[in-house]
Amino acid sequence: MSKSILITGGAGFIGSHVVRLFVNKYPNYTIVNLDALTYAGNLENLKDIDQQPNYKFEKANILDADVLDQIFTKHGITDVIHLAAESHVDRSISNPLEFVQTNVIGTVNLLNTAKKHWKADYTKHRFHHVSTDEVYGTLGDTGFFTESTPYDPNSPYSASKAASDHFVRAYGETYGLGYVITNCSNNYGPNHFPEKLIPLFINNIIHKKSLPVYGKGENTRDWLFVVDHARGIDTVFHTGKNHESYNIGGFNEWKNLDLVKLLCKQMDEKLGRAPGESEQLITYVKDRPGHDLRYAIDATKINKELGWSPSVTFEEGLSLTIDWYLNNTEWLNNVTSGSYQAYYEQQYVNR
Ligand code: NAD
Ligand code: DAU
Repeated sequence: MSKSILITGGAGFIGSHVVRLFVNKYPNYTIVNLDALTYAGNLENLKDIDQQPNYKFEKANILDADVLDQIFTKHGITDVIHLAAESHVDRSISNPLEFVQTNVIGTVNLLNTAKKHWKADYTKHRFHHVSTDEVYGTLGDTGFFTESTPYDPNSPYSASKAASDHFVRAYGETYGLGYVITNCSNNYGPNHFPEKLIPLFINNIIHKKSLPVYGKGENTRDWLFVVDHARGIDTVFHTGKNHESYNIGGFNEWKNLDLVKLLCKQMDEKLGRAPGESEQLITYVKDRPGHDLRYAIDATKINKELGWSPSVTFEEGLSLTIDWYLNNTEWLNNVTSGSYQAYYEQQYVNR
């Protein structure tokens, strides 16, 4: 069946991989990428597919309800995959209100628009909300997040994502809007903005700058290659059950310090540096306030019910990621000029 899918946040890290997958895999769908192009949005991420006939771009802000209405009418939007968000925990600690605006109010604006345009028959349309495992809070040394783990968000970012998940669910229960929610673990891969751990450290290793590990580096994250997340979204969008949530993750936990050491090792090899050289750049800095200790996704449901599983190992994915950054220095230089420098000073130098 032909669809006209609005993908929000499609110029960002994960969104660009979702847009690419859908544009290439579904030539009979129209893919409308709606993005405000904040500091995190970059159309360079899509230059390999932006001339395809089934791809359209709309520069718009999800806070502007009138524009959303016009875009739904103009493109006859049948479905939404919603990724647009403020996504960085550290920025949410400095500026929580911006996260409430985009992540909560922006999501409610989109829900209202979908409700209005799809009211003739909600069963013919799907609102796929892309969320995070951080809504579940933090784990101790054992256990996993399942789809029935109670929400317990700790950062302004995760609180805003939890609120948006609740609104999506409420629109399903109250008005009958068709929806699915996916809660994914930490992504890594090409096009990741260098404010997040892996791309920030890759950039710093290239430039022989210090690697600021928060606290003792004992926090644990569960890492998934971004292309596998995009494949998971494709799977749930097409075959997930209406009004259900699916966790997405690769059973791939790493303590931050162990991950940073692996990254240093792989980069020393690729850059022809002496073994152990980059590890000397590790510096322990003041911890992130409210720093969640451990995330770990139980991905049994999506695996058993929908047949999704990751396609690459972490070592392979990390190696591909490093190669991408080493081969795309222009991309990296462009995104780390200008306002990035001011962010870096505020976050790391004047900490
Ligand atoms: P990102 O910060 O790289 O990209 C966000 C995109 O949204 C950018 O292109 C930005 O321009 C756009 N955007 C921001 N505010 C907007 C607004 N008001 N209107 C329109 N567009 C706006 O984020 P990401 O890491 O790609 O994350 C995408 C989604 O996936 C988010 O909803 C995030 O919560 C979720 N998620 C991320 C991860 C992760 O590890 N990065 C893991 C699980 C879930
Ligand atoms: O779990 C999914 C979430 O993963 C997503 O919802 C978020 O959008 C995404 O940003 C990510 O959140 P994290 O806070 O886990 O990712 P980040 O890359 O910021 O940090 C990963 C770990 O590394 C975390 O324990 C904090 C630590 N860290 C991070 C930075 C930026 C450092 O030690 N030093 C740093 O400079």
